[in-house]
Amino acid sequence: MNTPKSKQSIETAKVIIGGQTLSCPIITGIENEKALDISELRSKTGFVTYDEGYSNTASCLSGITYIDGENGILRYRGIPIEELAQKRTFVEVAHLLIFGHLPSESERSDFSKLLTSNCMIHDNMVKLFDSLPSSSHPMATLSAMVVTLSAYYPELANPEMDMGQMNKIIAELLAKIRTLAAYSYKKSIGEPIIYPKRKYKYVENFLHMMFSTPVDEYPIDQEVVDALEKILILHADHEQNCSTSTVRLVGSSQANLFASISAGICALWGPLHGGANQAVIEMLESIVREGGDATKVIEKAKDKSSSFRLMGFGHRIYKNFDPRANIIKEICDKLLAKLGINDPCLEVAKQIEEAALKDDYFIQRKLYPNVDFYSGIILRAIGIPTNMFTVIFAMGRLPGWIAHWKEQCESPKKKIGRPRQIYVGAPLTHI
Ligand code: ACO
Repeated sequence: MNTPKSKQSIETAKVIIGGQTLSCPIITGIENEKALDISELRSKTGFVTYDEGYSNTASCLSGITYIDGENGILRYRGIPIEELAQKRTFVEVAHLLIFGHLPSESERSDFSKLLTSNCMIHDNMVKLFDSLPSSSHPMATLSAMVVTLSAYYPELANPEMDMGQMNKIIAELLAKIRTLAAYSYKKSIGEPIIYPKRKYKYVENFLHMMFSTPVDEYPIDQEVVDALEKILILHADHEQNCSTSTVRLVGSSQANLFASISAGICALWGPLHGGANQAVIEMLESIVREGGDATKVIEKAKDKSSSFRLMGFGHRIYKNFDPRANIIKEICDKLLAKLGINDPCLEVAKQIEEAALKDDYFIQRKLYPNVDFYSGIILRAIGIPTNMFTVIFAMGRLPGWIAHWKEQCESPKKKIGRPRQIYVGAPLTHI
């Protein structure tokens, strides 16, 4: 067990409220991030803090991912994202996030075998896909199927279950998510499901289950596998974002792994979070349909009387550039050139980026392309339909969600997540 710790600090900050002084210890992270420990604020002063959207609130100590948004830095377990994307596979990165270190050769081989041997879905569960309408959004199907997995693991209800057993269940979830994702797609287009094959590696198997049919086997293209592998790595964790915080919040009530992850999938679905990759491509397609004028969309995004936002732009944390976006843009150019695809959406995306980066509105608000701005163009080139984009994001984010859920379970300090509020409703009213 590796419990994250902050640096020892003797510094304190004083909070003075109504003549009362509270000494708040200062917590210092490993990269010198500073936080005030206000855990005694309410009990000692009666005050709470107000921080809508939690922009200034650290909800936990975590040893998984480090982000420096001002300098465009992202590291998993201390390793820069650029190195991981260049040199490692998604399965290795999942091992790194979940177990805290890159796998040795024998660990990698054991982990891969575990993933391959557990990718099948219980046949009764496969029948459940038939009871959902084919119009079901694959994210709805995926979240429903992931929580349904709880029904197949009664041992999850045993509070005595040890981490060894839990680690096996974790690997099974990683193995099964790509099968569930691919089945969600096959059902949505009314094609028979395709079983995974032992001969394929993680990403290859997913592509096979998505695109093979009973009569034709999908020809695996290494360039496509590499591009998808990198997309998954770039999405694998992003510390306390909306979906990961959801996983931790649900998990803090000691809800099981599948229930917590299913909630994370739902949180990811929204267009301000993982749903942005679908929204970006829909936006680009509509610009292309209407003649390809990027300036109109920029003006609309700046217009405060409209609720429209430039999808794939802006980030709560990155205020200079999103390091994942730079890598994705390179993958996008390389893959499209290799596949000989001339996508008008890519042209429009580049025009929007160029115009926005010169525009005062975007400069002043520090709005840059985020990871979702170019990822949809890559997914489209691979042949992945738009409504599956956020499912791919969920597959990528799964190791991060699991790592955070596990870190929280292993923490000796188990505290249910329960924020406060400021009540602004009706005063006491009698009937
Ligand atoms: N287009 C136009 N204006 C924007 C955009 C945008 N994409 N993003 C932010 N702004 C403006 C806001 O209107 C606001 O302007 P104001 O100060 O004049 O009121 C200012 O920039 C700050 O915006 P907030 O919403 O306060 O920033 P926040 O950090 O809360 O939001 C978010 C971050 C949700 C990512 C936002 O930038 C956004 O909606 N982007 C588009 C959706 C998107 O791409 N989401 C994917 C995020 S990455 C991910 O989840 C993987």
